[in-house]
Amino acid sequence: MALRPITLIGADVLRQKALRVPHFGAELHELLDDMLETMIDAGGVGLAAPQVSLNQQVIIVRLPDDRDSVRRYGEQAGVLYEAVNPKIVRVSHNRVDGVEGCLSIPGYLGTVSRHDMVVVRAQDRHGRALHVKAYGWLARVFQHEIDHLNGVLFIDHAKDVWQLRETHAEIMLA
Ligand code: CO
Repeated sequence: MALRPITLIGADVLRQKALRVPHFGAELHELLDDMLETMIDAGGVGLAAPQVSLNQQVIIVRLPDDRDSVRRYGEQAGVLYEAVNPKIVRVSHNRVDGVEGCLSIPGYLGTVSRHDMVVVRAQDRHGRALHVKAYGWLARVFQHEIDHLNGVLFIDHAKDVWQLRETHAEIMLA
């Protein structure tokens, strides 16, 4: 595994539509492993391939699993989701506001309205069908990451954006 540099806002790859992944071999596995290491190193809860400069439909999502997070997120805490070619196939009518940041836009946060529940269909690293019904924060991170695959950043639909003065551990970076 290796750390990959995180692409920052301004780079073209963050504004492109990512391409479908056709092969599920060693190259994809290395990418997924590197993305996890990079996300952990950066203190994030999600990462999309365009954030490591690759125009491919690959995302990872993992909520933290410390005691506080287990209380907050329940059984979703600490579970690693690797989603290749993900698609949101169903959403809740209900939407919730939450504060998000993005590893590609360091130092900024914003309030974003997201669906409270989404159903994601994707493939795992071996090409097998993956089906995730995600609620709350997990649903939020999936929506944030899948936005990345469409060239969309949270600042595009945030109700407000502000600059962060200090580090808050509880803030979601994805
Ligand atoms: Co992001």
